[in-house]
Amino acid sequence: MIYLNGAFMPLEQAFVPVLDRGFIFGDGVYEVIPVYSRHPFRLAEHLRRLQCSLAAIRLDDPHSGEAWGELIGRLIEANPWQDQYIYLQVTRGAAERNHAFPEGVRPTVFMMSSPLTAPPESQREQGIAAITAMDNRWLRCDIKSISLLPNVLLRQAAVDAGAAETLLLREGFLTEGAASNIFVVRDGTLLAPPKNHLMLPGITYDVVLELAEANEMPCQVREISEFEVRSAQELWLTSSTKEVLAITTLDGRPVGDGKPGPAYRRMYAWYQDYKSTVMRAAGKR
Ligand code: PDD
Repeated sequence: MIYLNGAFMPLEQAFVPVLDRGFIFGDGVYEVIPVYSRHPFRLAEHLRRLQCSLAAIRLDDPHSGEAWGELIGRLIEANPWQDQYIYLQVTRGAAERNHAFPEGVRPTVFMMSSPLTAPPESQREQGIAAITAMDNRWLRCDIKSISLLPNVLLRQAAVDAGAAETLLLREGFLTEGAASNIFVVRDGTLLAPPKNHLMLPGITYDVVLELAEANEMPCQVREISEFEVRSAQELWLTSSTKEVLAITTLDGRPVGDGKPGPAYRRMYAWYQDYKSTVMRAAGKR
């Protein structure tokens, strides 16, 4: 079951007009929210980021936080999986094609759910391969825009190279991954690029930094040079659907000793504990 503009219906029955500005211009924003045991994880934070994305593209939020929460709750219940992820997007609606904003047009609100499966044990145990590329996206990467063509091309470059993700470098510094945030471990310190217009402020990124702090893992949020990425002992990727994964080869060369490192293993365990604590507090699991 999906949600479209006020109604719940089977996916096969859902259609949007071809003049929707999401289709014509990529004029919209989105969120991806993981759901564990039917409980949306960090919902308030995802909705806050959605508000920021909407404000940045000058589109009024079609719903209050409470209304979003209720709709998301109904979508979760309408689908069969305990663990799911909600994809939601808001576009500027359907109007005659004209770059400037249309007047008096209702935004299109679409939400769907998919089963959320943890990355396979092999990826957990061996880590994943990544490549690097020049970050050739625009200068508002903090907006969770549905205009993802650069991200699509950058991720496909990884797949073409037999890798899982592309790390993006802008003017000699790490920004993020094609669809993830990236962490670096050097000399026992966790390094994270600062949140700014060059990267998406990841919800998982925040969780990882909070867990590092709570567990007294030394940690610095600062610009990270290409050299520091290439000579890191550990590299990690984070996202709502992948949680935390170790990157064990970069451009075909091993990262550290080529296995998920000790800092990664600790963070992975903290992350799972944290999830269990949150679910228990919500009366789940
Ligand atoms: N993408 N950076 C980019 C460019 C992303 O697309 C994502 C997530 C992240 C991580 O953010 P978070 O931890 O809030 O998921 C960072 C989602 C999962 C996607 O597009 O499917």
